[in-house]
Amino acid sequence: MIYYIADMHMGHKNVLRFDSRPFPDADEMSAVLVRNWNDRVTAEDTVFVLGDAFWKSENDSVNLLQQLNGHKHLIRGNHDRVHGRLRNYWESIEHYTELNDGNTLVILCHYPILFYRNQHYGAVMLYGHVHNSRESELVEKWKREQWDMGIPGRLINVGCMMDYMDYTPRTLAELLEANPMPDITRIRKDGTPAGRPETVPALDDSEVNQDGRKTDSA
Ligand SMILES: [Fe+2]
Repeated sequence: MIYYIADMHMGHKNVLRFDSRPFPDADEMSAVLVRNWNDRVTAEDTVFVLGDAFWKSENDSVNLLQQLNGHKHLIRGNHDRVHGRLRNYWESIEHYTELNDGNTLVILCHYPILFYRNQHYGAVMLYGHVHNSRESELVEKWKREQWDMGIPGRLINVGCMMDYMDYTPRTLAELLEANPMPDITRIRKDGTPAGRPETVPALDDSEVNQDGRKTDSA
C-alpha cells in the first residue's frame, strides 16, 4: 500500500497557532503524528512525505524518523534539511516525482502545479505547502475555474492538518473520495468536447518497482 502526507512540521511550535492545530504543544503533536502513522503503516508499506517534515535538530529528527514504519520517501519542501545523517533515513529525496498508484498516474510535488502531465487522462496532482490559508483558497478557486472550463484538474492538498487527513497518512482512494470532481464535460484545447477523462497509467506495469516508480528512478 502507498500512503501520502505533507507538512507535518514535527517539533514546530508556531505551526500550532497558524494552522489552529489542536495540540497543547509541539511534542504532543509529534507524538500523535507518530502514533497515527504507525497505526496504519506497516513495515512493507510505502509513504511519500510531500515536504516540511521536521522542525527539529538533526538528532531529534533522526529519532522521530526512526520511529516511523515503512519505506519513507521525501519530496522536498522549503524547510527540509537533507544533508548530514538525516539523509540516510529516507529511501529517496526528490523535488518532484511521478508514480503509478494502482491504475492512476500520481504527480507529487511540495508545491501545487496547476497544469501537469496526463491531466486530461485521469492523473492526480498531490501537493502541500499552502496550509489553511488564502493561498489554499486560491488553489481551490483555480481548480473550480478549471472545471468550469472543462479541464479535469485533480489537485489535492495532502497537508496533515486538512480535515480528511486528520494528521494521518492517507491512500489515494481515500484522498479521491474526500475530494470528488464533479461530472464535468471535458473540453479539448481546440474547444471541442472530449467526454469523460479516461485513466491512463504513466508507465508499463512491468517497468515499475514497489513504490510505483520506474525501476531506474528509485
Ligand atoms: Fe512549505
